[in-house]
Amino acid sequence: MTTLVDNRTAVLFKPLTIKNLSLSNRIAMAPMTRSKSPGGIPGPEVAAYYRRRAEGGVGLIITEGTYVPHPGAGSYPDVPHFYGEESLAGWKRVVEEVHSAGSKIFPQLWHVGLVPAPGGGFNAHAVGPSGIAKAGEQVTAPMEQKDIESVIRAFGEAAASAERLGFDGLEIHGAHGYLVDQFFWDVTNRRTDNYGDDLVGRTRFAVEVIREIRSKVSRHFPVCLRFSQWKLQDYKARLAQTPAELERFLEPLTAAGVDLFHCSQRRFWEPEFEGSSLNLAGWTKKLTGKPTMTVGSVTLDQEFLKSFGSSDTAAVTGIDDLLERMEREEFDLVAIGRSLIVNPAWAVMVQRGAINDLLPFQRDALGQLV
Ligand SMILES: Cc1cc2nc3c(=O)[nH]c(=O)nc-3n(C[C@H](O)[C@H](O)[C@H](O)COP(=O)(O)O)c2cc1C
Repeated sequence: MTTLVDNRTAVLFKPLTIKNLSLSNRIAMAPMTRSKSPGGIPGPEVAAYYRRRAEGGVGLIITEGTYVPHPGAGSYPDVPHFYGEESLAGWKRVVEEVHSAGSKIFPQLWHVGLVPAPGGGFNAHAVGPSGIAKAGEQVTAPMEQKDIESVIRAFGEAAASAERLGFDGLEIHGAHGYLVDQFFWDVTNRRTDNYGDDLVGRTRFAVEVIREIRSKVSRHFPVCLRFSQWKLQDYKARLAQTPAELERFLEPLTAAGVDLFHCSQRRFWEPEFEGSSLNLAGWTKKLTGKPTMTVGSVTLDQEFLKSFGSSDTAAVTGIDDLLERMEREEFDLVAIGRSLIVNPAWAVMVQRGAINDLLPFQRDALGQLV
């Protein structure tokens, strides 16, 4: 039996304000590449897909990763561009549809750096801090100052487009081993200049990206940074081994103007450091005082990379641990990935206490944009 409103979940439905952004609840759609934008242009089907999640009650939509205007930003087929008249017109339609359904939306600005395209190989303009794709794999020359500056400019240009098109803020993809994270990670960043050398030096590229973005958007426009300890190249990788290291890592990013940290874990319930149950978003909020967002296997019993690698079904699980952490204000927002692909009305269903009616996730669901 389902009730109209399940009061246990009320903590998920409290409003939140970050600068100019007023969110009606704490539920975000996680950024998910869908590769359904031929020629890099998000069409009406893409707009309708995001609109359905807005109608389903998601407070904040973070779009799939979208390429910044740099020739090496990425070459996966059918990934939307965040440049060019037609792509930007497509994004404007997405924003309008989402707004008319009452939600807010950020684009996720993406540069893949030296992550190979599916099937292997790198685009002719691919760049990485030290030209290293993963441990022991030198694929190109280290980035020169002019390369660094042109990528930074590309993020700034994309940010200006985001505000002009009516987006409510933006997210920098600084996670999972892509370009910004290749600077953060000592395996792919062997530089001994100002962009490397130590943990703080490795934040410098991101700091300059954030500063450039801040110079191109108005003061009240929220900037979110997504980061992760784990990398696609190495699930066990860690940027910070201790809370003190995490603090040193976060301090320059916060000072540069991040308003919200999106802390990517594969399983949100995993404690980040021994001796405390706080997860990465919990520690980040504690150390920076900034709002944070958690993510990772919410209402699913299998993490997302396993979902890619097998046709197993990720079954639906409960939500008590999440609610308890939110009650304790460990973090402020939660992003939902796969479960929102199969349950566009996830937020409405959870509000009604209908968790048992959620559909499980299976990778075949990625074939279609519904
Ligand atoms: C199909 C798919 C595409 C994804 N694409 C992106 C992406 O473009 N950018 C990103 O930061 N994360 C991406 N992710 C990771 C998700 O944002 C999220 O962190 C992950 O799915 C864990 O959340 P979940 O367990 O609720 O699915 C993707 C995940 C999936 C399933």
